[in-house]
Amino acid sequence: MIPRLKGTDDILPPESARWRRLLRGFDDLAARYGYDLVLMPVLEATELFARGVGADTEVVQKQMYTFEDRGGRSVTLRPEFTAGIVRAYVEAGGTGVMKVAASGPQFRYEQPQKGRRRQFHQVDLEYLGEPGPRADIEVIEMSHRLLAEAGVPGITVHLNSIGDASDRATYRDLLRDFLHGVANELSPDSRRRMDDNPLRVLDSKVDKDVVAAAPVPLDHLGAETAAHFAAVRSGLDAAGIGYEIAPRLVRGLDYYNRTVFEVFSPAFEAAQSSLGGGGRYDPLGELIGSRLPVPGVGVAMGCDRIVAAMPDLESPRLDVFVAVAGAAREDVASSWVRRLRAEGLRVDWAGGDRSLKSQFKAADRSGAAAVAVIGDEWERGEVRVKSMATGEEVTMDIEEAVAWLHR
Ligand code: HAM
Repeated sequence: MIPRLKGTDDILPPESARWRRLLRGFDDLAARYGYDLVLMPVLEATELFARGVGADTEVVQKQMYTFEDRGGRSVTLRPEFTAGIVRAYVEAGGTGVMKVAASGPQFRYEQPQKGRRRQFHQVDLEYLGEPGPRADIEVIEMSHRLLAEAGVPGITVHLNSIGDASDRATYRDLLRDFLHGVANELSPDSRRRMDDNPLRVLDSKVDKDVVAAAPVPLDHLGAETAAHFAAVRSGLDAAGIGYEIAPRLVRGLDYYNRTVFEVFSPAFEAAQSSLGGGGRYDPLGELIGSRLPVPGVGVAMGCDRIVAAMPDLESPRLDVFVAVAGAAREDVASSWVRRLRAEGLRVDWAGGDRSLKSQFKAADRSGAAAVAVIGDEWERGEVRVKSMATGEEVTMDIEEAVAWLHR
């Protein structure tokens, strides 16, 4: 027996029912907000993430599945969607607005624990080509709605603005000065980063207490970024979406500017882990070689974590389980089952070569709302229908039964 790799999961029934609900919900949400489907390569050039996500980030330094392919190219299993989607937009000669939704596995070599997997699944939304705050608001609203519609309780949004590169020039000097002052107390990782990438230090979990008194980007926004952030806030207020300002939230990836956010729920408590996160990434296009700027904002939601925070639904998995009295009625049953499925009902059956008792057992296990028995009555144009909820059993005209199953 060869077991699965550490940090990977087999997602099987019955747990997979919640995955199906979540992924369908995402698909439906994306369509309602005008986001088209994109399917992205799992393998990308390593350079894309080194430059896009940032050579100095935890993801690029410690977590990527990088190897040389048979042609001698350095390739990486994607650790996230955003860099690849912006690459695709630029490569297709993208101009103007493109709103897209993606869903699929990501790979990060992490220390596995609950909700922290080496292969995990994200659903992702990217709103490209729109510099205005309406894009930021829409993406945050959708992140909230996805969770609310999935039944996740107690959703909170943490929101911050980290400004633009121009705002950060003076702010970085301030932060650097502060960090130099407390350098003795910082971890080796943070000390190494404090000159080249001081913002990363603000995000450090181990140095949390030391950086608690550090200056924050929000207090050093330029006029334009401050106005952008104010507009995002009032848009969220108008949408009725509550949020907390999180002045030290900078996110773990280097491509962000202006708005950043993360979403939490008490139903997923593992070590302050977010159910989703995102933000604006106007610098990303140029980081990966676009000659034109590509304004954009997006979010990725972690499905493994969301599913852990979703309630189980009591609702039946099938509308009807069809049982057949006698192998001779197999063909009749098969074509009736086909008709019901074609009409959109969720139907399963086990076949007439098994005893009725064993078929009823299968019906019980199937989680169907009703069992329909094809027996002697069929010849008179009738079928026996039993409601699993009430145990009530009625013999009905076949067409009447079909209407009843559709109710
Ligand atoms: P991220 O914060 O790295 O952002 O990941 C987003 C979400 O993916 C997290 O909030 C979490 O739910 C989930 N996640 C991350 N790592 C793991 C893991 N090892 N195991 C399970 N779940 C995990 C991004 O990936 C950005 N691309 C988001 C974005 C889109 N920004 C703009 N557009």
